[in-house]
Amino acid sequence: MRRAKERHMHKTRNDIAANARKGVAALLNSRLADVVDFQLALKHAHWNVKGPQFIALHEMFDTMQAAYSPHIDEMAERITALGGTAMGSVQAVEKGTSLAPFPADVFDGMKLVGELADRAAALGKSVRKGIDETDEMGDADAADILTALSRQLDKDLWFLEAHLQKG
Ligand SMILES: [Fe+2]
Repeated sequence: MRRAKERHMHKTRNDIAANARKGVAALLNSRLADVVDFQLALKHAHWNVKGPQFIALHEMFDTMQAAYSPHIDEMAERITALGGTAMGSVQAVEKGTSLAPFPADVFDGMKLVGELADRAAALGKSVRKGIDETDEMGDADAADILTALSRQLDKDLWFLEAHLQKG
């Protein structure tokens, strides 16, 4: 799993140890890149989906992507609260994401659902790992932010997989 190197840290009165703040900021920046990538993949699917379930998927993908904006903001602002730099440029996201590149030649509704489910599951796994790691580094607040994100990802994985599972 890729984790960004946190270089410059701002001075802060926050009492979490400097190296813990640095480690948590780096971890959060890595997951931030992943979530922004996932959100853009959902938007891509929202725009380009084809097939008989078009309207249901078009609407579901947009509802899903919108839910990640508050999580992204929470993560980014936790990074800055810790004295780090929230890496929000498209260049940083491209460099930092650990998700597989999203295919531009997939349009079929169920195939797109499958591609998104793969990424929701991969991201869910790394976010769950991040919950334990931030907790071990002594930042219960970062662990809490990642816990909320993990809940969202698991819910969306359920929604996505329900389209692929047989009754
Ligand atoms: Fe739209």
